Amino acid sequence: MKIEPFEEYYHYYDLWFEEHKDLYSLEIKAIKRILQNIKFSRGFEVGIGTGRFSLPFGIKYGIDPSIKMLKIAKKKGLNVVRAIAEELPLKDNSLDLIMFVTTICFVDKPLKVFKEINRVLDKNGRLIVGFVDKDSELGRLYEKKRSNSKFYYIANFFTSDEVIEFAKESFFNVGRIYQTINPEGFDDVIEGYGIGSFVTMEFIKS
Ligand SMILES: C[S@@+](CC[C@H](N)C(=O)[O-])C[C@H]1O[C@@H](n2cnc3c(N)ncnc32)[C@H](O)[C@@H]1O
Repeated sequence: MKIEPFEEYYHYYDLWFEEHKDLYSLEIKAIKRILQNIKFSRGFEVGIGTGRFSLPFGIKYGIDPSIKMLKIAKKKGLNVVRAIAEELPLKDNSLDLIMFVTTICFVDKPLKVFKEINRVLDKNGRLIVGFVDKDSELGRLYEKKRSNSKFYYIANFFTSDEVIEFAKESFFNVGRIYQTINPEGFDDVIEGYGIGSFVTMEFIKS
């Protein structure tokens, strides 16, 4: 389990979003592009952390293995349980939306996680994956500075193609994809992947 940095620097992690409001709101905007067209009533976040991506979308339930991160999430009113993504404490076909944001690089068995998420989603249920693309400018920078980073020294980054492959192998169809871009200081969200830093993908349980 890769939770040491979150157990130690949970407060610092949550504060990052206050200190980087521009980047945070751009990532929220990318996820919103997908979520605004989806109706859901049983939303859940896998690797919910302190709830920074659940709260803005009205998702009130989640799991995470870091007790310290969960303490902050609880203080924000979220209903959370300590568990790992590889073994979700959920019944088959019990949810219609799962968010999995910036956590894929910390799980031990990503393919197992996709299969587990597929198990707990309804048919046509949506999985939203948000992550930093290993094959992007930011991904390359994170990779280069990994050993000096408080959080990312234990991370294992993936490219967009690798994430799509995990989803396809787990019987998901690929939906819409958006990426955040920053051309000459002008922030935006555009369709697709390949040039942006933070990528958001929608997968649909077939
Ligand atoms: C970068 S944080 C993301 C938290 C939240 N999703 C967000 O975007 O703010 C990564 C989270 O993954 C959690 N994590 C690590 N290993 C995990 C696993 N096997 N299953 C689920 N979550 C895990 C960590 O405890 C941490 O809270």
